[in-house]
Amino acid sequence: MSYIRSNALEETGYVVLDRHDQAADPKEWLDLEYVDWKSSGDTRFAPLTSAFGDVECNGFWNHTPPRTDKDGVWVPSNVAKAPVLKARAEEPGANIGRCRVIELQPNDYAGALYNLHQDDNNRLNPDGTGWIVRGFFNLSDDADSVIILREDRFHPETEIRIPLPAGAQLIVDTQRFWHAVWHTGPEPRYCLITSWESGPELDAYIAKYHGKPQSQNPPLDPEIIENAQAEVRRRLAERAAIIAAKGRVDDDQFDEIDD
Ligand SMILES: [Fe+2]
Repeated sequence: MSYIRSNALEETGYVVLDRHDQAADPKEWLDLEYVDWKSSGDTRFAPLTSAFGDVECNGFWNHTPPRTDKDGVWVPSNVAKAPVLKARAEEPGANIGRCRVIELQPNDYAGALYNLHQDDNNRLNPDGTGWIVRGFFNLSDDADSVIILREDRFHPETEIRIPLPAGAQLIVDTQRFWHAVWHTGPEPRYCLITSWESGPELDAYIAKYHGKPQSQNPPLDPEIIENAQAEVRRRLAERAAIIAAKGRVDDDQFDEIDD
């Protein structure tokens, strides 16, 4: 047995869909109830789904009984304020796990690289069912910000940088890629992140919106990249030294990551 995966994601691991006309929609994300939830960077989250429909963001596998990132329960108070976002998450017709709006404060390139992580979307996911991937719908207009994807955490030559203007729509295998967002600001960034189960429904949705890899990275000065790599190495060494001094094992950098 093996997981059902999307052919469109098989080779590249991500696709960019047609832009959504974000300006035509109300800014529902500004009305939602957010909770403090540490992710990669300075973040809060507004759950549209959760394990039991409560306003909380814990992974479904951390609840009783533990379960995988599917069958999210709508959070009544938040979906009442965001019918358009709910409809967009439902449009593919694929099973939805976690679905939430992230609020991310501005950061810098080195900070984003330090925060690179892989998601744990498929914990407890039964073999033979659909692999969980994630949709990213950028809500705020952050054309100078990028989501960074790397096949190899420490190798910038594997880096893909995808700009995040309002209405940008991506689907990413975030368990495959190391990823984080470099958000230039100055205002917070808002993005709807949805866990979808791979399968024919999601494949049809990707085809409908012409999902494909982007053709070219936006340029970035090699010196900026090298300096940021050095800064990340310095921060990681510093962190390792602190942890070693405390006599602890260096477990995962983040307990729960969403962006
Ligand atoms: Fe993530």
